[in-house]
Amino acid sequence: MILKGRIFHFVDDGRKENPENSFEYFEMGGLVVCGEKIVDIGDFNKIIAKYSDHDVIDHKNNLIFPGFIDLHNHFPQVQVISSYGTQLLEWLNKYTFPEEAKFISEDYSKQQAKKFLELLITNGTTTSVSFCSVHKESVNALFQEASKKNMCMIAGKVMMDRNAPENLLDTPQSSYEDSQALISKWHKKNRNFYAITPRFAITSSPEQLKLAGELVENNPSCYIQTHLSENRDEIEYTLSLYPNYRHYLDIYLQNGIVNNRSLLGHSIHLSGDEISIFEQSQAVAVHCPTSNLFLGSGLFPLKELNNSNVRLGISTDVGGGTSYSMLNNLDAAYKIQQFRNFSLNPKFSFYWATLGNAKSLGLENQIGSFKIGTFADIVVLDSLSNMVSRIRMETCESLDEELFVLQTLGGVQSIKSVYIAGNSFFKASISLRVRLLTELFPIETPLLLEL
Ligand code: GUN
Ligand code: ZN
Repeated sequence: MILKGRIFHFVDDGRKENPENSFEYFEMGGLVVCGEKIVDIGDFNKIIAKYSDHDVIDHKNNLIFPGFIDLHNHFPQVQVISSYGTQLLEWLNKYTFPEEAKFISEDYSKQQAKKFLELLITNGTTTSVSFCSVHKESVNALFQEASKKNMCMIAGKVMMDRNAPENLLDTPQSSYEDSQALISKWHKKNRNFYAITPRFAITSSPEQLKLAGELVENNPSCYIQTHLSENRDEIEYTLSLYPNYRHYLDIYLQNGIVNNRSLLGHSIHLSGDEISIFEQSQAVAVHCPTSNLFLGSGLFPLKELNNSNVRLGISTDVGGGTSYSMLNNLDAAYKIQQFRNFSLNPKFSFYWATLGNAKSLGLENQIGSFKIGTFADIVVLDSLSNMVSRIRMETCESLDEELFVLQTLGGVQSIKSVYIAGNSFFKASISLRVRLLTELFPIETPLLLEL
């Protein structure tokens, strides 16, 4: 098929001051999809002459853009999002751990996995890096559901053997064995990749972190995900549990879980030495903007990390984060940087949420752009999806301005269509969305407000 519309994607680093050579834009473009992959891209008239027997799907004035990549979120927190009144450590104990305990049930895990993926996809996210619960049932449910949709999923079971309720604890040995079994079952199967997932230093004993390092050594192609320096109280508690280390990152470094496949969520309150370790190891600092605002965690030092050539990621961190929409998270990232006297350029933002995150995963030959041979993971964006945007767009004169409107005034309602590996997944007709939402959430009418 050929998708017709305004096509836009990044071909190079969009983080430069003047990122004009970093993207391609076709005002009336044609994107050729064959099976799962992108096979050609160009001006529509040239494309249709070359592929005259192909079906054309006309997306009119909408922007055809690579699907968003969410580099850090928590699948067992679908019911935790929007929990009132606390900061990180209290929030975990009061809301998050009790909910995650429910994922011992295979049925509950399956139900929630279905909802979680629908929420990601209807928000235009086509690749997700997700924490599961401590239970292998939750990992199986998430990978199974992602496989059905042929979606790129990077996930793992949290390893946690202390400082949480008894019914959420594994042991160093069981966490090693369960993780290894899940790696054998899911890593590199379909579009799935396994992430070795010690939750954070507070909930892992030194024995468990050491075994996490052994898992990494024995499975070098797996990703690693954890949390780092999110909140001041968390850092203080962490260093009291690990008094013989130089700083928070040193704990992970000495235990062998910091390398160029490590995704370190939050990474807010960092020392100069920690920033140097990021540079040397090529680990990725993953920004979680709506979460950092919601939990009052702190202001991500974007300019400093970017200037130091630290690899960067951006994510929703649902349910600490308050929106599944990467557009809403880009908006929050912009506002956070306003407090730090750094005006985040919209090209930087849209690059970050697609090709930038793909590069941070080392998957830029599979996802994040419309490079020929990559998966046809696509989002179709409508910049006129609500009255405020519609009026503001009347005076927009450039693509930068339009992207900024999408990010500031858009959200779930901006997503008109999503394709995953070439399959049309979702078309935002009102009736279809009502049906989808009511089927998934049969009781609670307030969810329809999302429309
Ligand atoms: N640190 C350890 N676990 C979590 C979690 O679930 N969410 C956030 N935001 N931070 C964490
Ligand atoms: Zn998190």
